[in-house]
Amino acid sequence: MGWDIPAELLTDVAPADAYRPHLNAGTLWVVDDGGAPVAFLAGMVHGERLHVDELDVRQDRQGEGLGRRLLAHAADWARGRGLRTMSLTTFRNIPWNAPFYASAGFRDWPEDEAPPSVRQALMNERARGLKDRCAMVMDL
Ligand SMILES: CC(C)(COP(=O)(O)OP(=O)(O)OC[C@H]1O[C@@H](n2cnc3c(N)ncnc32)[C@H](O)[C@@H]1OP(=O)(O)O)[C@@H](O)C(=O)NCCC(=O)NCCS
Repeated sequence: MGWDIPAELLTDVAPADAYRPHLNAGTLWVVDDGGAPVAFLAGMVHGERLHVDELDVRQDRQGEGLGRRLLAHAADWARGRGLRTMSLTTFRNIPWNAPFYASAGFRDWPEDEAPPSVRQALMNERARGLKDRCAMVMDL
C-alpha cells in the first residue's frame, strides 16, 4: 500500500460500544442503505466546536461522495446549533485524509494553537504508533 501506518490499523475493528457516547449525544450520523450501514461520522461537541472523532465509509462504497456528504451534513447540523468550528485529526499525507479535508474547507491547525483535548488526541494517536498525524479546523 505504501503508507507508513501500523498494519493492525487496517484490520482492527472498533468495539461495539465505541461510539455509544456519540449515539447518546445525538452526534452519530449513519448512512443507511436499505438497513445496512455503509458510512458513519461520529462527532462530539466541545464548547462551540464539533470534533469529528471518526469518519468511515465502507470500502466498497468509497469514492461515491458519501464522506463528503456526511461532513457537509455534520457541518450544517453544527451551524444550526450555533457552533463556530469543526475539527479533527488525520494523516497528513494520505490523499483521502488531510488533502480530502482541505478540499472540504479544513485548514491545518498548528498543535500549539489547538486546545488541550485535540493535543491529547494527537498524543494518544502517536502513542498507538500512528505517524504524521495533524489537527485540522474549519470555521463554520
Ligand atoms: C476518507 C473517506 C471517509 C472519504 O469518504 P469517501 O466517501 O470515500 O469520499 P468521497 O467520495 O466523498 O470523496 C471525497 C474526496 O476524497 C478523495 N478521495 C476519496 N477516495 C480517494 C482515493 N482512494 N484516493 C485519493 N483520493 C480519494 C477525493 O479527493 C475526493 O474528492 P472528489 O470528490 O473531488 O473526487 C473514506 O475513503 C474512508 O472511509 N477511508 C478509510 C478510512 C479513513 O481514512 N477515514 C478518515 C480518517 S481521518
